[in-house]
Amino acid sequence: MLKLKNTTTKDAFRYGYLLNKMYPYIKLVLARSILLFLLAIPLGLLDGVVAFSLRPYMDFVVNGNELQTFELWGHTFKLQAFFIKLIPIAIVLFALIQGVLKYICNYLSDWTGNKMSNALKIDLFKKLTSMDTKFFDVNSSGIVLSRFFSDPDAASKNLINTLKGFILAIFEFVALVFVLLFNSWKLALIGIGVMGIAITPVIFIKKKIKTVSNATMVVGGDMTTNFNETFAGNRIITAYNLQEHQNNKFEDQVHKQFDLTISLTKRVGWMSPIMYFVCSIGIAIVMNYGNSLILSGEMSAGSFASFVTSLLLLYKPTKSLGLTLTSLQSTFVSIARVFELFDLMPEIKDSSNSQEMKPIKSGIEFSQVWFEYEENQPVLKDFSLQIKPNETIALVGNSGGGKSTVVNLLPRFYDIKSGSIKIDGIDIRNIELKSLRNNIAFVFQDNYLFTGTIKENILMGKPNATDAEIAEAVKLSHLDEFLGTLPNGIDTIVGERGASLSGGQRQRVAIARALIKNAPIVILDEATSALDNESEAIVQKALDNLMKNRTVFVIAHRLSTINNADRIAVLNEGQLVELGTHNELMNKKDGRYKHLYEMQFGGQS
Ligand SMILES: Nc1ncnc2c1ncn2[C@@H]1O[C@H](COP(=O)(O)OP(=O)(O)O)[C@@H](O)[C@H]1O
Ligand SMILES: [Mg+2]
Repeated sequence: MLKLKNTTTKDAFRYGYLLNKMYPYIKLVLARSILLFLLAIPLGLLDGVVAFSLRPYMDFVVNGNELQTFELWGHTFKLQAFFIKLIPIAIVLFALIQGVLKYICNYLSDWTGNKMSNALKIDLFKKLTSMDTKFFDVNSSGIVLSRFFSDPDAASKNLINTLKGFILAIFEFVALVFVLLFNSWKLALIGIGVMGIAITPVIFIKKKIKTVSNATMVVGGDMTTNFNETFAGNRIITAYNLQEHQNNKFEDQVHKQFDLTISLTKRVGWMSPIMYFVCSIGIAIVMNYGNSLILSGEMSAGSFASFVTSLLLLYKPTKSLGLTLTSLQSTFVSIARVFELFDLMPEIKDSSNSQEMKPIKSGIEFSQVWFEYEENQPVLKDFSLQIKPNETIALVGNSGGGKSTVVNLLPRFYDIKSGSIKIDGIDIRNIELKSLRNNIAFVFQDNYLFTGTIKENILMGKPNATDAEIAEAVKLSHLDEFLGTLPNGIDTIVGERGASLSGGQRQRVAIARALIKNAPIVILDEATSALDNESEAIVQKALDNLMKNRTVFVIAHRLSTINNADRIAVLNEGQLVELGTHNELMNKKDGRYKHLYEMQFGGQS
């Protein structure tokens, strides 16, 4: 199945499995990540150092008690004076060390996070371009975009940042707890106990965050789809005055996103205030009890100041330890989603004994082909047809009869359910995909032109074509006159999707692209159907050049355009109902082709 799920994948809780999958990407940045995590340790300890040094500072410097002296290098120092001199220097040094460590850590986490994310994105893009046509049929562009852009970032940057944050918090926590215990273990027990109560709610909201974050992803994907459709379908939107419809759709999505965000804030927003409140109770108790300890002489004022400072500082690492759990969880959700994509395997790929395609000698054969897009809804039913080399075969019939489907099966956009399609007796599933597709040129009704110049678009048919080959293709596709009218000629930039060209011009660029490819099989699927009579005439001339000396499948509903086909195959509801030359089919009494023809030409055949 190639459809992406909207919600969390089943693997989101298999941490070992996911880390294992992630390992090739972690390996890329392993050395720097380890350095990062090692540097996070002293950075985490620094807060503890501040709190710890408050005690001697208060006791010796501020209160000035215990005036001791000590010997150093033959001098006698007064401890108080020594501290007074040392403290300004220590403050500057401390800031320097902290600054340098912070900078290095930030640099390393950005470097590793982005490197990993980029590697994931590149591999995901390769995955995207390797996917079957079906993948693009069943997944909306919005979902795919969000999967390809936000998840790799979340999976790698969050992973690094969460781990870094975790190490920072752990060491900050340990250092501060050490200072607490060092000053008074009794007070420490009270303080830590209260802190423990304060952070418990963090653990309970984990689940809510996860469901909301998934729902937000889905809405985000829908919004992107909406944007894409507004772009791609802007003509239709304008023509049918659908602006309001699109606006309303977008507004609904924005509101939905708002509701989701607010619902999360409602559930989660009270946490922080509650935590502060519980902590304030803890501090009140500590103050109260601490006072009596000071009065009874069990604790010095410096010790108490150091203790309270540590306790206040402890709030931050404790909270971030709690949040680490949730953020690690959502990181793993992203990782799981990334690997859900990686685990999608294109169903259409080379077989183990695939061979290169040779020049066609005996022809192409569809034999008893059954095909369905959706389970149990056959679109082609027992379709058989043989095409000789360099024959032009026309496929005609009612819309929805399966004509496009037949030609889409040849380059294996889809694989058939049963039967076989063979070229010179070799099943196409045993021909190298790349070589098979190299041998087929397509011109559709609406051809996609990519952002870039006309020349670049033509060169897509053969990237290493020479200037002479390009000139030849331009001439045969009757583009030269048109290009002559453009100031930049063939180097004119066509807008996204070729929007700046007329239908006939776009069609001729597409034909030039097909011509330069010089493939022995040519498929024309309604290539002139969207054109007016005048542009059709010139495009038809270009097509005639493309069709020369090639095996051609031509689909057209205007029967005048298939007069020069060698044979005509009539499809109806997925079945081949008639096959023969124009004259043969016209001589069939009550023939389907004859009927179609007479309908188009008012009965005068
Ligand atoms: N990508 C697709 N996914 C599902 N159904 C499809 C797809 N493409 C075509 N169909 C269905 O297959 C049938 C044949 O379509 P098609 O081959 O495009 O007909 P024709 O080209 O003769 O008009 C139609 O019923 C159509 O709805
Ligand atoms: Mg069609």
